[in-house]
Amino acid sequence: MVRINDNYLRLPESYLFSEVARRVAEFQKAHPGKEIIRMGIGDVTRPLCKAAIDAMHSAVDDEASASAFHGYGPEQGYAFLREKIALHDYSGRGIDIDADEIFIGDGAKSDLGNFTDILATDMTVAVTDPVYPVYVDTNVMAGRGGERIGEHHEGIIYLPVNKQNGYVPPLPDRRPDVIYLCSPNNPTGTALTRQQLKEWVDYARREGCLILFDSAYEAYIHTADVPHSIYEIEGAKEVAVEFRSFSKTAGFTGVRCGYTVVPRCLKGRAADGEEVSLNRLWNRRQSTKFNGASYISQRGAEAIYTEEGQRQTKETVEYYMENARIMREALSAAGYETAGGVDSPYIWLKTPGRMSSWDFFDFLLSTHGIVGTPGSGFGAEGEGYLRLTAFNTREATLKAMSLLLP
Ligand code: MLT
Repeated sequence: MVRINDNYLRLPESYLFSEVARRVAEFQKAHPGKEIIRMGIGDVTRPLCKAAIDAMHSAVDDEASASAFHGYGPEQGYAFLREKIALHDYSGRGIDIDADEIFIGDGAKSDLGNFTDILATDMTVAVTDPVYPVYVDTNVMAGRGGERIGEHHEGIIYLPVNKQNGYVPPLPDRRPDVIYLCSPNNPTGTALTRQQLKEWVDYARREGCLILFDSAYEAYIHTADVPHSIYEIEGAKEVAVEFRSFSKTAGFTGVRCGYTVVPRCLKGRAADGEEVSLNRLWNRRQSTKFNGASYISQRGAEAIYTEEGQRQTKETVEYYMENARIMREALSAAGYETAGGVDSPYIWLKTPGRMSSWDFFDFLLSTHGIVGTPGSGFGAEGEGYLRLTAFNTREATLKAMSLLLP
């Protein structure tokens, strides 16, 4: 029989959101008439903006014509999209990133999960606790987790973020090779200020670490002092890779498109001491294992950067952020302690009394038909919390909040 990758046996039985979906499906089967309000996985509900839809229709027409047909595209993404990103998301903000430092992918999750392919197997990673489970699970799969002890893997450095430290990850007491940071944060919904992020960039420069910076939720930032890109911090280009997604910015969760920025000046070290460009290695990895996001999705993403596209996507983001405001206010009026929801579509909710995350999940589902994501699924420090998303419709959001009022 074939040998398996034993590291998979060190993972929890199922991926967090699959487990939530399984429990919801089971509940629905047992209570077929019950209305379910989904505030669990961060999936959007609003249709794609007209600019993206029109561009994708026209891209479909291209595929129907012999002269405009596109087969395999460049593995790194089409120049038309890479150039728009460089212009709007970076040089427009005073950041010097070239199109060839941008790699188009099918979303941040895959690139975040795949990036460590080009890094040493025996390196040490640091993550916050709670954390987006993809960072931990993919490192465990790659053999970096070591033994699983309780909720933690002994090979991983966990940085607790909680109410006491204002959800700001503390610097580690031993040096990791790689640090995952997510701001605005999934799951806590909080965001790092310029000064807080600068401390991390300075630390990474001092200690020779690499930061994998997930800014999938940057479109939701409303606070002036919260950077949209890690490259707004001086010196970050030498220590950070940035992951972005059109999923939350423009509702592409089903269409699939995102991008990863690997600056040319970013270097790693080979076993013999040679300095190697991470941009070169990522390019090598992508050319071999990836055939590019589809032409149609990339045309849709390009349209986000037109004037109408910008206006239309902003409208949708504001719609969700109004949901977030309604939720924050209703939840605190109902006596709940919350974080997030100001620069992010996520609200991090303390469970009442000493109820566990999964007990509160079960209570909300069985009593009100509301689906959240148990905080403990994001890490031990998330126990006693539940994450709600503002991605539902206004009607469903208002209904859920009215059900939660005492
Ligand atoms: C979440 O709910 O945490 C996200 O939707 C998951 C993801 O983006 O993969």
